[in-house]
Amino acid sequence: MSNLSKKPFIITIDGPAGAGKGTISKLVSQNMGFHYLDSGAIYRVIAFEANQKGLATDQISQITELIDEINIQFIGDKIFLTDKDVSELIRSEDIGKFASEIAKNEEIRKNILEFQKSFFKPPGLVADGRDMGTVIFPKAKVKIFLTASIQERANRRYKQLILKEKDVNLTDLFQRIKLRDESDKNRKISPLKAANDAYLVKTDNLSIKQSYEKVMEIIKSKIDR
Ligand code: DC
Repeated sequence: MSNLSKKPFIITIDGPAGAGKGTISKLVSQNMGFHYLDSGAIYRVIAFEANQKGLATDQISQITELIDEINIQFIGDKIFLTDKDVSELIRSEDIGKFASEIAKNEEIRKNILEFQKSFFKPPGLVADGRDMGTVIFPKAKVKIFLTASIQERANRRYKQLILKEKDVNLTDLFQRIKLRDESDKNRKISPLKAANDAYLVKTDNLSIKQSYEKVMEIIKSKIDR
């Protein structure tokens, strides 16, 4: 779908961990020819670096200093921390948990605000996260809130991890996802929630292709208006 003749605009795709936001957002950005912001990856890279440096999640001033020092780059499908490819390293459950902990802090969120906004360039942006439609890009043209039950998200994650032959336990995954949902939803600053003008898409019984088609239908209906 080409948007070259029109004004650049933003599509936000928010939702809980494991709802398929990343996969769907990438497909949408490819189809639209738009830039893509994986905001969760920013929190994950910071968490990764803080963890490497032996910092705890509550050492906020040290973590904010660290944000000023590091250089995060998205190049194609890869994420670089200075010169190191951390694309895979940041995806562990432990880094996700660390990221969710530090993401509760207002100072840290403020520090990466401008970096996130800088992703909006012509011809447009697909932004994925927790607060894209509510806080970072409240004027986005299309807002999607993608969800699935905890059980469904745990099952999907299990299938992904088993392929990598990791030692995985479904009950443990269910608990971790549940805790991360609670941590992201119940924080005071920029909690995980659907914007008032977001379209809710439940993906429990949908394949990736079906979820993607549903999201594209919503986008088309909004931009054809
Ligand atoms: O989407 P993800 O699982 O990669 O995100 C990791 C954590 O980062 C998530 O549990 C909470 C935090 N996060 C956030 O607070 N705001 C965002 N826009 C994106 C992620």
